[in-house]
Amino acid sequence: MKVGVVGVGVAGASHLFDLVSDDRFSVVAVGASRIDRARRAADLFNVPLAFADPAIMFETGELDGVVVATPPSVTAGIVGAALRAGLPTLIDKPAAASADELEAVDRNAHHTRAAVAYNRRYLDHVIQGRAILSDGRLGVLTTIGCEWRGPFEQRFATGDTFRAKTGWGHGVLLDTVSHIIDMLLYLGVGPLVAERAVLATSPTGADTGGRIALQCVGSEPMITLRIVDDPLEDWRVEIRGTGGHLTVSRSGVSGRCRGQTIDRSAAETRRPVDDLLDLADGRPALGATLTEAIDVLRVIDQIRAVAHHGRRWSSPRAKALGRLNGSC
Ligand SMILES: NC(=O)c1ccc[n+]([C@@H]2O[C@H](COP(=O)([O-])OP(=O)(O)OC[C@H]3O[C@@H](n4cnc5c(N)ncnc54)[C@H](OP(=O)(O)O)[C@@H]3O)[C@@H](O)[C@H]2O)c1
Repeated sequence: MKVGVVGVGVAGASHLFDLVSDDRFSVVAVGASRIDRARRAADLFNVPLAFADPAIMFETGELDGVVVATPPSVTAGIVGAALRAGLPTLIDKPAAASADELEAVDRNAHHTRAAVAYNRRYLDHVIQGRAILSDGRLGVLTTIGCEWRGPFEQRFATGDTFRAKTGWGHGVLLDTVSHIIDMLLYLGVGPLVAERAVLATSPTGADTGGRIALQCVGSEPMITLRIVDDPLEDWRVEIRGTGGHLTVSRSGVSGRCRGQTIDRSAAETRRPVDDLLDLADGRPALGATLTEAIDVLRVIDQIRAVAHHGRRWSSPRAKALGRLNGSC
């Protein structure tokens, strides 16, 4: 498959390494907002073509698929252009800065040819956790606690990424909380509504941490999210139900339910770029659909609103979000 990669920063470079080390792919073009950055990446990864305008790249007729790894504020427009050109498109999360931006793409393009690379969906033990939750072994869910740790303050203060210029509500909410919301919806916990949110803010104005409470619509479990500044990266989701408990974490999935012990170490099934081959052949990808990514962004929009106004989110339409599977 001949692939073009738009965005050659932290995420784009990771996808480029995956693509150039896999014989099934040939990277024929790279793009960045600055042509010198695109050319530097083209030299490094031995790619023939470099562009500063993604729309021109998509019109070359040289591509069978596209990876988009750009700042959320510009991603929806680039994805729309790729899908209008009929190209299978892998998008790095969260795919847009707001749900409305991504919904505009969803309505106007071939959205079934897109997948959003929330990378925990590619982990075998997370897929296993989803299976355990969907078979109802945990009973009625009672509490869910999510904790994500990382050097968030530093990430939004320094460095040569778009994060140094990020404003309030577009920091860890888009970078990290989007992963947590996608993980919860992927595990079958939803629809979700934001109840409370207190966000820590960096000197540059970006949200860099916080405590968030969500409610699972129409059922019991109160869900708490803690985003904690820490030099070491770590993450875990702890779920308790009437039938037992389950922890899905960076190191694996573990717990006990209905007298059985669950203990499986973390393992990767495959890389996100593999989704491009599935999209091209009309098979379901492991990444999120655009509809699922919109659901994630709707919850992020709610969290911004409750953090801003300091009260429970309410919608005139009381629109339910996410996926119901009866587990909570
Ligand atoms: N899945 C994960 O765990 C994970 C990890 C990291 C990042 N991400 C996601 O990946 C995305 C990119 O993050 P990053 O850390 O790679 O950011 P980054 O290092 O700042 O790189 C962004 C890239 O996008 C390019 N770009 C910006 N605007 C553009 C435009 N209008 N047209 C074409 N190219 C444009 C930039 O060009 P220049 O080089 O010229 O500036 C740069 O190459 C974000 O959505 C982020 O959330 C996901």
